[in-house]
This record gives sequence, structure tokens and C-alpha cells, in this order.
Amino acid sequence: MVLASALALGACDRKSAAQAAAVDLPPLKSLAGFPVGTCVQAAQLDDAAFAALVAAQVSQLTAEWEMKMEYIVQDDGSLRFDAPDRIAAFARTHGLRFFGHTLVWYAQSPAAFARLGSGPGFAAAYRDYIHAVVGRYRGQAAGWDVVNEAVAEDGEGWRECLWSQRLGRLEHMTLAFQHAREADPDAVLFLNDYNLENLPKKRATFLKLAEALLKAGAPLGGLGTQTHVAADLKAGELTAALKDLASLGLPIHLSEMDVSLSRAKGLLRDRRELEAGQARVYAEAAEAFSSLPARQRFAFTFWGLRDGESWLKREDARDTPLPFDDAGQAKAAAGAWAAALR
Ligand code: XIL
Repeated sequence: MVLASALALGACDRKSAAQAAAVDLPPLKSLAGFPVGTCVQAAQLDDAAFAALVAAQVSQLTAEWEMKMEYIVQDDGSLRFDAPDRIAAFARTHGLRFFGHTLVWYAQSPAAFARLGSGPGFAAAYRDYIHAVVGRYRGQAAGWDVVNEAVAEDGEGWRECLWSQRLGRLEHMTLAFQHAREADPDAVLFLNDYNLENLPKKRATFLKLAEALLKAGAPLGGLGTQTHVAADLKAGELTAALKDLASLGLPIHLSEMDVSLSRAKGLLRDRRELEAGQARVYAEAAEAFSSLPARQRFAFTFWGLRDGESWLKREDARDTPLPFDDAGQAKAAAGAWAAALR
């Protein structure tokens, strides 16, 4: 009966769907023919209502930031795993798949690495870091974002960063994939990036990079598309992007989805139109992802469940980009997502 009401909601007038404050839905993971994920921070798990929502709704967990170098690598070069271990333990206890995010990211270059110079010590520390982090969750992490956001903002080539400067532009990425594979023979190893829906040029560069990595012998096993999009994303863009990304035949992780109202710059004027746009974008994502060949549907991950926890709140506190409201009630966006699943 609840599923029927979700389907009816998808079919009904968009305006009234967007106005509905809360939607009665079965758990998202029970509706999808693929893993459904969210990100969490360890401290959020102290909130019993949030922890229950996560355990009920999703089948995969990603650490929002506590598995990044910024958290793990200390100034003296030592590594801390308290928060990631907690998230991994929560995943185990609740039978959720665990996903590693992220090993190499241009945005983070800890001092402990920067002061090593560019000799063999740097390459060894890089290898040891990846071995330590991936090895710790070997057998539990189903996959890893090995390299995050490597393509330049405008899609023109690859970013320069500490890792490319010290180890080489393609080489630092190839090495990262190889070291991750040495530490875990089974995890699916991803290249992950954003703005692949709205910037076809960036997507083309991303796909060329994936091909270059494969040619160089990197054990690249999947492509991640973050999908931080806005409520005015043009209809069809997300579908075209997923189809294009799937053309290499690798598994696809829709890895960090949220649909911002505040970042919409287009024709949607008021909140009601923005919420209807948000529901439409979530629906298109569900439909396009479900249409991928089954073996390419690695997971569909929301970058948070409740609006109140969204990282986008820091940019604009009024934004409500996620499928559940602050109280953990499914929004029209969640209803539209559910109704659009094939
Ligand atoms: C963001 C987190 O949501 C924030 O909490 C953190 O402070 C910064 O990173 N692309 C990514 C994610 O790959 O790791 C980012 O997450 C969002 C953009």
C-alpha cells in the first residue's frame, strides 16, 4: 500500500507533490535493485534517531570526511583511525556495506607529506599510507575512491597538486591504484569526480583519464560520479551523463548525490518550483541509474539523508538538498526518487 502511494505520488501533479510535507515510504533500500548508501560522520551516530534512520534506509555507508587525509594523517605523520573504525563498526553491526572515501585528493596535502621532499622517501610514504588505510579495512570495504576530483574545474586537463608534482601527473594516480590493489585484492577501485552532468567537456576528460589509467596498468574498477547538482539541472543531462560514463563498461557509483535549491541559478523562482525541480532531478537520477545494466550499478549514494546534516548548509543555511527533512521524514524528493525506480 505504501509503495502504491509512492507510485501515485510520482504520477500526480508535481506542484502538489512538492507541497506535501512528508511522504509515507518503505525504506529506500527495500525499493532499489542496487545498494543505496549515505555518508555519515562518527559523531552523528550518537544521535539515536539519526542512527536508526541510517540503519533503516540504506545498505551502504561512506565516511563523510573522517577517512580523508585531513583527518587520518597527524602533523607528526602518525595515523588515527578512531572515527573511521567507529563508522566501520556501525556498518558491520547493522549489516551495511562499507565504502572507502578517499585516498588521494588534490585538496588535501598534509604537512607530514609536504616536508618529505621528492626523493624515494616520499614515494615510500605514499605507498605506506595507502597500504595502511586500505589494509585496515581489507575484507570490509567493498570499494574505494582511490583518486578524487583529478580533472580540472573547467574540464581542461588534470589538476596539479602535491601528489602530481612529486610523483608525476599520471604516475601518482596509477601508483595509488596499484598500492590500493596490493592492500586489498577484492575492493573495487574508483576514480571519482563532480560536475560530470552539467559539464560534458569535464566528463570527456574524465573518461579519457580513465582510459589512460587502464592503459597504464592501473587496476581501475569503477567510475564514481558525485552528482552534487542543483534543482534547475536541465532535464536529460543526468541521463546523458550516466549513459556516457557507462560506455566504458565499468561499474558506476552515483557517489554523493544531493540536489541544492540554493545553487539553482535558472528559471525556478520560488521555493515551490525549486522543490518540484529537486523532486524531478532525484526522479531522473533514480530512473537513469536503474536503467544501467545490472552489473554496472555499483551503488547509489546520497550525501547525507536529513537536510539538517547536509554539508551544503554551510554555504546556505536555508538549503534543503536531501531526501529527508530535519525530522527524518521522507520528502517529496524521496517519493519521486522511489516512484521513478524501475
Ligand atoms: C565534503 C564533506 O561533506 C564535508 O563535511 C567536508 O568538510 C568537506 O568535504 N566532494 C567530495 C566530498 O568528494 O568528500 C566532499 O565532502 C564534497 C565534495
